[in-house]
Amino acid sequence: MEDFIQKGTALDAVEAGAMHIENKIDCCVGLGGYPDRDGIVTLDSCIMDHKANIGAVAGLERIKHPVSVARKVMEKTPHVILVGAGAQQFAIENGFTLESAELSGEAKKAYAEWLKKSEYKPVINIENKKQNGPFAPNFFEDGTANHDTMGLVAMDAMGNLSGAVTTSGMAYKLHGRVGDSPIIGAGLFVDNEIGAATSSGTGEEVIRICGTHLVVEFMRQGYSPEMACKKAVERIVKRDAAKAKTLQVGFLAMNKKGQYGAYAIQKGFVFSVKSNNENKIHQSKYLI
Ligand code: GLY
Repeated sequence: MEDFIQKGTALDAVEAGAMHIENKIDCCVGLGGYPDRDGIVTLDSCIMDHKANIGAVAGLERIKHPVSVARKVMEKTPHVILVGAGAQQFAIENGFTLESAELSGEAKKAYAEWLKKSEYKPVINIENKKQNGPFAPNFFEDGTANHDTMGLVAMDAMGNLSGAVTTSGMAYKLHGRVGDSPIIGAGLFVDNEIGAATSSGTGEEVIRICGTHLVVEFMRQGYSPEMACKKAVERIVKRDAAKAKTLQVGFLAMNKKGQYGAYAIQKGFVFSVKSNNENKIHQSKYLI
């Protein structure tokens, strides 16, 4: 396997990983994603480094790489989150290109189909090809696993941790809806002394429990990454077990020793691991 240790920072790695997915036509990340109920693709993203520097954008339209705009917010402004038109203006002022507002071919088809009923019944992150559409990213040859949000955590050769998240959010959401992904402590949290965590799935449920901050705090208490993720999932399910059956949330975490783990409400949450020793896609354990 290629030795990629010593070649850069964790921060650069998570940004590059997020950009890679933003470049693809994908149901749930980047400008190729499903639109909101008004037919507009709005993107959420955040980034966090080992010194707790943070940047985020929410409801960003027509900009290809929200993760890079989030990084610019982190590095060039005294603020941590920019939203909507202000985020777009900031991106353009910082050299990002304003892309077409037109939906990708696949998203256009899916939106036209949705418009026939216009039911506000978002299904998110139930990893089933039929539900998520034929162009969802497939991680397995049979296409059974796909995902809504790209969350990344990384550790570099210095032992420093960083994380990033990028998504087009819940399909057919209300215009203006913001999920967990750009919210530090919900969709992403990094504590360089302890570990890092990210989430995917129904953002409202993750925000409610400050999900990734909770996962990191469980690791601080001595739980393994997998157990920490499991305990956060249990917190969601305990609040409303009936509702939890209808949705998916998955957490992914890594501690300072480089140990990792994940846990989801339901079957199908997958995560990839790349290191000098491993290059593999894992199925997460699940509660229900
Ligand atoms: N987890 C992505 C979202 O809820 O928008």
